[in-house]
Parts: sequence; C-alpha cells; structure tokens
Amino acid sequence: MTKRRRARRGATLTTALAAVVVAAASGCAREAGDVSADKDGGVVHVACGATEEWCAATTEQFTKTTGVKADFVRLSSGEALARIQAGKDNAEFDVWYGGPADGYAAAGEESLLMPYLSANAKAIPDKYKDPSGLWTGVYVGALGFCSNKELLEEKGLKAPESWADLLDPKLKKDIGIAHPSTSGTAYTALWTQVQLADGDKSQALRYMRELHPNVLQYTKSGSAPAQMTARGEVAVGVLFSHDCIATQEAGFPGLEVTFPSEGTGYETGGIAVVRGAKNPGSAKKFVDWALTPEAQEIGPGVKAYQFPTHPDAEVSDKVVDLDGIKVVDYDAVEAGEAKPALTKRFDEEVAQAPKS
Ligand code: G6P
Repeated sequence: MTKRRRARRGATLTTALAAVVVAAASGCAREAGDVSADKDGGVVHVACGATEEWCAATTEQFTKTTGVKADFVRLSSGEALARIQAGKDNAEFDVWYGGPADGYAAAGEESLLMPYLSANAKAIPDKYKDPSGLWTGVYVGALGFCSNKELLEEKGLKAPESWADLLDPKLKKDIGIAHPSTSGTAYTALWTQVQLADGDKSQALRYMRELHPNVLQYTKSGSAPAQMTARGEVAVGVLFSHDCIATQEAGFPGLEVTFPSEGTGYETGGIAVVRGAKNPGSAKKFVDWALTPEAQEIGPGVKAYQFPTHPDAEVSDKVVDLDGIKVVDYDAVEAGEAKPALTKRFDEEVAQAPKS
C-alpha cells in the first residue's frame, strides 16, 4: 500500500477539502433486529455506514485489538437513522459508525445519540467533531462525478466538469445518484446545491428537478451508482469520489473521476454512541479505538480512500488531494437540522415528478 505522510495537518475544511446481514467481525453474522445482550456483555453492535468491506475489516481489527466482540449491519445513512429511531426504547445498536455527520446531527436533534467525549477525540481537529461529543469525525470524503469514459465518448461528451454539465439533454437517463432520504451521499449532493444557491432550498430543488430527466434511477445506497456506471447502465454517477476509485480498482479502469468547477460538497464521516445502548462500555471502547491512527489506517487496505481525521494517521496516495478541489461551505449541523424537511420536499417535488 503506497502511503504519503500527511502534509496538511492544519488546513481548514473550507480550504483543505478541497438489511442485509453482513459478515460479523466475531465471525458470526447477526440477524437484523436481533438484540443479544441485556447489559454490557463485552460486545458492540454497530450500525455501519461505511462500505461493507471497511465495516468488516474495522470490526474484526477492533476485536483483535481489544478482545471485545463486534458485529455490524451495513446501513445507508437514512436507513441507520430510521433503525435507530425505531430502537428508541429498545436499542438495537450500540454505536453508529460511518456515513455523513449531517445524519448524526439529525439524530442528535431527536435525542437519539448519547454524547461521549472520548479522550482520543482530543487529537481530532475541532472542525471534524461536535463540541459536545454528540459525534466525532473519523474520515472525510469529497463528492465527485464518476464517468464511464467509453459511454461518454460514444455520445461525443467529455467527463462532466460542472453541475451544469449534468443537465445536458444528451445525458437523458444516463445519470446515477441515490435518493437523499436513504443515502447520506445523495443528501450531501442536495445540500451542496443549497449551498451553491446561497441557502435557497427552492432553487436547489429546482436544480434537482432539472436534473431529474437525466437520472435513470435514485438508488438506496450512495455508492451503488459507481457499479451502475462501471456496468454501463449509466454514463455518469454522482457519488463520493473515493467510491469511484474503489470501483476502478475492483476491475473497471475505464472510470474517470472529475469534480464540479462550481464547488463540491464533502462529508465528515461520523461515529457516535446510540442513546440507550445496551453495551455502553463496549460502545465507548469502540469509539475510543476508531479515533486512533491504527483504526483510521485500515481503509486503504480495503479500497476505502477517505481522508483520515486523526492528524497522525498516514494518508494513502489514492486519497483525493483535498487542496486541489473547490468545495462549498458545508456545515453538517445546519445540513442535519434541515434534513427531514428537505428530503421530504425532494421526494414530493423531485423524485415523484414525471420524466418528460
Ligand atoms: C460509502 C462511502 C462512505 C459514505 C457512505 C454513505 O460507504 O464510502 O464514505 O459515508 O457511502 O453511504 P450512503 O449509502 O448513506 O450514501
């Protein structure tokens, strides 16, 4: 694994950035909804929003390091929030790990998270964490466009370099993006439009409505459009750039990553203890460990190229150059507060609109 030493420790975000059951770390899979411990039983149940491979590798390494068992269910951001809401009086999960922080902020609004100021969070720059310990950032990722070069060539198009490029009628039904109600990735794209429209949500939704005829399908998970693009089902996916790189590496070198010139959005992938967690001690241990360089260096080994939030974690050469792209001002708390109403409006005003 090629790595580079982190060069930009002090950079600020605005300038720097530029149910299925899955294999459990303990070696056993957990059925969705199964609550196996009534008290802290030396196990942590994780609602995991990162890629399945990363969730598996991370929980496995956590168990090896601490001796505490861990299992996980991979859930998109909106799904995780819904499952945590459903478990309000009988928590299914102990920890929520991965996925954009605006989802965590939305959960915080509903008192679904238990503030936890891990001693290890001290090392994480302020811009990557909630000051009260509601959530702490474990990685950062930038939204980009993932193009199938061959398909675009056939249409006489180049890889898009702006949000405006995505509106080209030649891309009719040729764009893949997830639904912002389920996907944190897609919500990042929606909130990016709000930021580009100086906070005007109606204007942001107007852009999404203009894009709508070009969208083949709103997927559940944010990374799914990378596979759709790789398979040639669509010409362009809108998703976190690292998910496109991972798909390139999985055998699709014909994919190309570009970023919009107007500015793009970014995520701070979070971690939090769920309020009412049945294994609070193990949950806190998991949070402590996830904030270490050791934990944050696992990603590249499983093709997950997010930017680690710990200043001492090594950074893979494949991580997006955060200084090299233009980003919008992305406030996860503001985005999280707006999330329920804005996703509802998206559903009513965009997703259900006819495609002429
Ligand atoms: C992928 C990315 C993560 C991101 C997550 C959001 O797993 O690698 O960086 O946080 O997607 O998932 P979602 O399905 O909610 O868009």
